[in-house]
Amino acid sequence: MLIVANWKAYVEDFAKAKKLVALSKRLAGTSGLTIVLAPPAPLLGAFSASNTSKVAFAAQDISLTTGGAKTGEATAGAYAAAGVTYAIIGHSERRAAGDTDAIVAEKLARALAHELTPILCIGEHERDGEGKYLAFIREELTSALAPLSPKERAHVIVAYEPLWAIGKAASFAILPHDLDEMTLYIRKVLAELMPGKNSAHSRVLYGGSVEPDNIRALAAGTSIDGFLIGHASVDPKTFGELAKRLRVQT
Ligand code: PGA
Repeated sequence: MLIVANWKAYVEDFAKAKKLVALSKRLAGTSGLTIVLAPPAPLLGAFSASNTSKVAFAAQDISLTTGGAKTGEATAGAYAAAGVTYAIIGHSERRAAGDTDAIVAEKLARALAHELTPILCIGEHERDGEGKYLAFIREELTSALAPLSPKERAHVIVAYEPLWAIGKAASFAILPHDLDEMTLYIRKVLAELMPGKNSAHSRVLYGGSVEPDNIRALAAGTSIDGFLIGHASVDPKTFGELAKRLRVQT
């Protein structure tokens, strides 16, 4: 199972970041989980540049630019040079700040050009009774992946993060049955976008109010390959508990 810890802007303290990184290294060594940490950019660079551990590092976003006279931009190339190997692309909080489907598609290409494994976030704003959210998910996936070559498409990890389930408590998260349905639907769309067996290895994650109270049920009741975890990933005790519950499961 793959665990991506999205620290968002929750962590601003070096000592706290150090503690979380050390804990993650221990967990990666003992739990059999693949752990990817996504700290805020300056903290990310402080740890990723000298990283030789089993833990990997992800950018929370990358710039649309390819470098040059662009003050304040952090490019895929700069992240790759700092030892980063994954990039979260199209998180709903970046989409809310202006990332359109077209920008998300461009950023995917930028990440892949520097051999960063993209974690493409998709997710509907709300659920309706007529299944319109399914068409929305199909559109987000298609617009992001269609411009890529079939080989590139196969490298993209998809994180399903319904907006209505982000940043809440476990009781508001998606139910295992509904997540299972959505995972199968996403895999079906991926298979259409990658004819042949290319989508067989595509990984699909879930994110949105994953906590110790629901992680085991979500992992057990679905074909999900892992989780993108926000608020529950920045408290060492809670993060340790999440890994423990998953380890019992896997
Ligand atoms: P959450 O955030 O775990 O705090 O709901 C997940 C995410 O936005 O990636």
